[in-house]
Amino acid sequence: MNDTSENITVKLRHVNKRYRSRRGAAETTALLDVNLEVRRGEIMSVIGPSGCGKSTMLRIIAGLDTDFTGEVQRFWKTERKKGLPDTGFVFQSPTLLPWRSVRKNIALGLEKAGLSRAETDARIGEMLEMTGLADFADSYPNQLSGGMQQRVQIARALAYDPPVLLMDEPFGALDYITREQLQEDLLKIWQSTEKTIILVTHATDEAAYLSKRVCVLSSRPGTVKAVHTVPISYPRTIDVKAGADFAQFQNLLREELKDEPK
Ligand SMILES: Nc1ncnc2c1ncn2[C@@H]1O[C@H](COP(=O)(O)OP(=O)(O)O)[C@@H](O)[C@H]1O
Ligand SMILES: [Mg+2]
Repeated sequence: MNDTSENITVKLRHVNKRYRSRRGAAETTALLDVNLEVRRGEIMSVIGPSGCGKSTMLRIIAGLDTDFTGEVQRFWKTERKKGLPDTGFVFQSPTLLPWRSVRKNIALGLEKAGLSRAETDARIGEMLEMTGLADFADSYPNQLSGGMQQRVQIARALAYDPPVLLMDEPFGALDYITREQLQEDLLKIWQSTEKTIILVTHATDEAAYLSKRVCVLSSRPGTVKAVHTVPISYPRTIDVKAGADFAQFQNLLREELKDEPK
């Protein structure tokens, strides 16, 4: 695949981000001259030491933070209905409304879509099915495990069909078995929806298992240290984690992160 703008979804050009302290004294440079192209339909992981600016970068891509220099070019394929966000966002800790059922939490994402009641119900039904939540539609967040709550976040983020799904360490707080299950499910969801996914993680195995490419950020100020293509074809099942290619690639990531002060 060559990098014409045809197959690029988001392009960051010379992005710099500084946080100013409230009293105007100290400044933190979070991102320094970040250049990156994310291709349409790929899963790209962004990996880097804690505090290197991963969340900041995701927020900038989402348009949640506009206080930066440089440029973010977005090449969305579809025309979006006014008021509908271009990106779905999944946070590390679920941001579900405790007083709303699973169904009603997913509906949140659809409120601006201007759909009829029947269309909304059908869409929620699809999302419940896709994320394995069909039996939990009327449960409340506090009745769900952490893994289930993350599924609800994914369903909510995808409900309005954004072209890009941004995930900020979405499985970081889950136990290992639940994480692996959600990783497998995410691959299935990705294959059926063909979304572009940008996934922040600090787990090298997660990056290697899920992504087509991995962007390695240096420690703060975060700058792109390398972008690697994962040498494993899709569809992937959990067995690939036992393969030599996988171990080798994960080692490469580990080595690169090892050079970075934590
Ligand atoms: N709202 C903020 N105000 C000031 N500094 C911030 C703010 N958010 C993040 N930072 C700083 O910017 C750097 C990058 O943060 P972040 O993007 O959260 O890193 P990561 O997600 O890679 O751990 C960190 O040093 C952090 O302390
Ligand atoms: Mg973060």
